[in-house]
Amino acid sequence: MNEPVSTNITWHHGAITRAEREARNGNRGAILWYTGLSGCGKSTIALEAERRLFDLGRHTYLLDGDNIRFGLNSNLGFTPQDRTENIRRIGEVARLFVDAGIIVSAAFISPYRADRDRVRALVAPGDMIEIFLRCDIGVCEQRDPKGLYKKARAGGIADFTGVSAPYEEPLRPEIVLDSGALPVDACAAAVVGYLQEHGYI
Ligand code: ADX
Repeated sequence: MNEPVSTNITWHHGAITRAEREARNGNRGAILWYTGLSGCGKSTIALEAERRLFDLGRHTYLLDGDNIRFGLNSNLGFTPQDRTENIRRIGEVARLFVDAGIIVSAAFISPYRADRDRVRALVAPGDMIEIFLRCDIGVCEQRDPKGLYKKARAGGIADFTGVSAPYEEPLRPEIVLDSGALPVDACAAAVVGYLQEHGYI
């Protein structure tokens, strides 16, 4: 955990345990952490998997890259330091959802391994399921849903992941999906299947 700047603060324990919340919700809390290049399908697959979980009666919420940058992280850009802070804050938010007994999906490029590992260290073993969406940059660039690769190649976006900023692939993700080749439905089904097989739901 980061050392707080504040002094004279005390941690207060809640009256309701995580286990009680999970029992009522009918699922354990967990983080589905989607990582991959822009255009690899993070948001689309996370949305579809979340819809399936919701329809199964599970308690879920989705934290999505662009959306979080409109609010909580509106003061952050794309330098390595800002991305680290972006992921740190999202990790803390995700941790609160886990404590609330909710399956929270986080769809962020999260290009740095150390940043993702820091999120993992915030929660208990098994609480974070890292999902690597493997997709060639050529495919992402061909999709280019927001026209950002084109803009980045033309020099219009600094520090663009895969073009002028790095992406570090996970070394031991719980799930790897070839989102460049597999349809969205198959990817979403694989995520839900993992949760069923491993007793999360
Ligand atoms: S992260 O690297 O800090 O995890 P995040 O997932 O929050 O990134 O935001 C990525 C989204 O911001 C992309 O999908 C894209 O729409 C937009 N974006 C704008 N500038 C950049 C950039 N320089 N690099 C990557 N994505 C960018």
